[in-house]
Amino acid sequence: MTRETPDSLEGADTTDAPTPRTDDQPSFLTDPHEWVRAKAIDDTATVPLPGLLIDEVIGQDEAVAVAKKAARQRRHLLLLGDPGTGKSMIAKAMAEILPDPEQNDILFEPEPKDANRPRVKVLPGGQGRGYLTEKAKTAKTWSRVFTVFEWTVALGLVALGVWAYFAFGGGVSAMILAVLTVMVAVFFLYVARQTRFKAVQMVPNLVLERPSGPAPAPYVDATGSHAGALLGDVRHDPFQSGGLETPTHQRVEPGAIHRADKGLLFIDEINVLRLDSQQALLTAMQDKQYAITGHSEKSSGAMVRTHPVPCDFILVAAGNMDVIDPDDTRYTGLHPALRSRIRGYGYEVYVRAVMDDDDDNRLKLVRFIAQEVRRDGQIPHFDGAAVAEVLREAQRRSGHSGKLTLRLRELGGLVRTAGDLARDEDAERVTVDHVLAAKRMSMSLEYQVTRRGIETTTAREALDIDGERVGTATGCTSIGTGETGEPAGVVVPVEADATVSSDRQKGGLFLGGGLEHDPSLRDPVSAVLKRLRGGDMAGIDVHAQAMLQQRDAPVGPLGAAVAIACLSALEDVPVRQDVCVIGALSVAGRLRAVDGVTQMIEAAADLGYRVAVVPKANEGDILLEHAYRDRIEVLVADRLVDALPHALAASRKKLDFIDNALTRRPAPRTA
Ligand SMILES: Nc1ncnc2c1ncn2[C@@H]1O[C@H](COP(=O)(O)OP(=O)(O)O)[C@@H](O)[C@H]1O
Ligand SMILES: [Mg+2]
Repeated sequence: MTRETPDSLEGADTTDAPTPRTDDQPSFLTDPHEWVRAKAIDDTATVPLPGLLIDEVIGQDEAVAVAKKAARQRRHLLLLGDPGTGKSMIAKAMAEILPDPEQNDILFEPEPKDANRPRVKVLPGGQGRGYLTEKAKTAKTWSRVFTVFEWTVALGLVALGVWAYFAFGGGVSAMILAVLTVMVAVFFLYVARQTRFKAVQMVPNLVLERPSGPAPAPYVDATGSHAGALLGDVRHDPFQSGGLETPTHQRVEPGAIHRADKGLLFIDEINVLRLDSQQALLTAMQDKQYAITGHSEKSSGAMVRTHPVPCDFILVAAGNMDVIDPDDTRYTGLHPALRSRIRGYGYEVYVRAVMDDDDDNRLKLVRFIAQEVRRDGQIPHFDGAAVAEVLREAQRRSGHSGKLTLRLRELGGLVRTAGDLARDEDAERVTVDHVLAAKRMSMSLEYQVTRRGIETTTAREALDIDGERVGTATGCTSIGTGETGEPAGVVVPVEADATVSSDRQKGGLFLGGGLEHDPSLRDPVSAVLKRLRGGDMAGIDVHAQAMLQQRDAPVGPLGAAVAIACLSALEDVPVRQDVCVIGALSVAGRLRAVDGVTQMIEAAADLGYRVAVVPKANEGDILLEHAYRDRIEVLVADRLVDALPHALAASRKKLDFIDNALTRRPAPRTA
C-alpha cells in the first residue's frame, strides 16, 4: 500500500461522505470502506513496518517527541492518560533509544567488623566475574592450606599421645594422657573446621553482572512491586547461628532500582505505589544510590543494612488522572515531592485518547494492524475490507465523529480476535466477516450485563413502547466509563405524579429511585416546573422516580426525561411511549451533551424504541452501527422545548402554550 504518499488523497476519494458530517469538521473523509478501495489497500502484509519500537507508536506525537528528548538527556518522564494508549510501550521504546551507557557489576562482601553491614564493591561491567573467581580461588587455597595444617596438627597430637603412652610405660595414667591428647586433637579439628568455613564465607556475592564497555541500557519494569522487590531486600536466614548460617552478604538481593542502574525504571500505576515506597524512590533518585535493608520485619534480614548501592536510573512513571486527583481514597496518588522531582528533572505528558480522523492517521491505523499481526506472529494479515471495518470500529470507539480512538490495546484485541477466527478457519487473510464476528464477540462486560439485565429487569413492566401515557417518559443513561471496553446504554423509564401538598403554602419536587443522588438534577427540573406554573406551584408536590436497575449509573443524562415526566404529570399531557429522550438538562432548559450517546441510542433501538431525541451538542458523536441505522430515528434538539413536540402527544395549541410558558421570563425591572 502507499504509506509514503499522503498527498495522493487530494483526488477523487474525498468526495461524497456517507457518514454523518457536522459543520465544524470540514475535512471529513469518506466511509472507511470506500477510502480503503480508493487507496488500493488490499493487504496488510505489504505495509512497511518500522524497525524501532518508538516509531511504532501511533498518534502520540507529543509524548514520543518528549520521550526522545528525555532519552537523549537522561531525564525522568511522567506519562498520564487513558489505559491502552501506549504509555508502557513508550517507556519500553525509550529504553531502546537511551544512549548505550557503561555499566557496573555489583558485588557484596562481608564487613569483618560488622556482619550486619555488608560492603558493596562496584566494578566496571564485565569485571565482577573475574574478581569473584579470584576471591574464590584464594579462599580455596586458604582452605586447602588450612586442611593440611589441621590434619598435620591433629595427627601430630595423636602421634604425641601414642608416643606418650609408650614413653610413660603404659599404665592407667599414661592411658589417660593418651586419650586426652586424642580428645584435644578432635577438639582442634572441630575449631579449625569453623575457621576454614569462615574463609569460604568470605567469597563475595556477585549480584549484578553487566557487559563491559557501552551496552544497551537496562529496562526494568517495577510495576506492582512490593517494597522489597523495588528497593532491594535481605533474605531471611532460618539458621541464624551454629556455623550453619548463610553469611549476611550472601543474602542481600538488589531491587529494581539497582537493576535499573544506568538504565530505565518503569513504574505503571504509580498512584497505587505506597507512599513510603514513593518516598524511598525519591531518595534513591536524589542520591543515585540506596542502601539495601531487609523489608520483612520479623526476619533476621531486618537488622541488615548494606553500604549504599548505586542506582542511577531514569524513572518513567505512568498512571491515569488519579495520579493528580485520586478518586479512590485508599490511595493518595502521586507523592507531591516525587512529582515535583520528575517535573524538576524531567517532563510530564498527557497522552491522547483520540486522534483526528484524517488521511494520515487512517494510514497509521493500517500500519497498526500490520504491527499487531507481526507482534502476534500467529494470525494472518488483513484484507482491505477487514482493514476498513477495523477503521470503522476505531471511529466508533472514539465516541466522536471526526476522530479515531487511540485506545489501541483494545483495538488490538479486536485485531487478534478477528485473526484467531481466521486462523481457526485456516483462512489466508482476515476478512470483513471475521472482523464483524469478532466485534460481536468482544462486547464489553457492561454491554453484556445490561443486555442480560433487559431480559430480567423488573423495570420492564414500565416499558410499554406503544401508545401514550401521562407521567411516564423514557430516558437513557450508561454504565461503564468507557475506560476499558465500551460503555453500555441503559434505558430508564421515569415516572412522575403531581399531588396536593400537605403544606398549602409550599410545593416541592421529590426525586427518588436514584435521582436523589445527583444534586445537579434538581435545579434544572425545578426551574422547568416553576416556569410552567410560576407561583401556582404552591400547594403542589411533584414526585419523580427513575426505574433504574443499575445503581451506580449516572442519572444526570436522565435530566430531560425527568423534566418531561414531571411536566406531563403536572399539565396532564400524555407522552409518546415510543420516544426516548436523551440528555442532561441545564437550568436554562438546554439539553446538555452526554457521554456514550451512541450506545444509548443503540440500547433504545434494541428495546424497540422508534425515536431517540438527543442533545444537539451530541450530534457529532453519533456513530451507530450499520444495523441500527434503519431501526431508530434520531432527532436532535437544542433545548427542552425543541424536544417536546417529538415527545408529547399534545395538540398544537397545548404545545404552544407550554413553549410559551417555558420561554417566559419575569419582566425586567424598569429603572
Ligand atoms: N499509541 C500506540 N501505538 C501503537 N500501538 C499501541 C499504542 N497504544 C497501545 N498500543 C498497543 O497496545 C498495547 C498495550 O499498550 P500499552 O502501552 O500497554 O498501554 P498503556 O500502558 O497506556 O496502558 C501495546 O503493546 C501496543 O500493541
Ligand atoms: Mg500500561
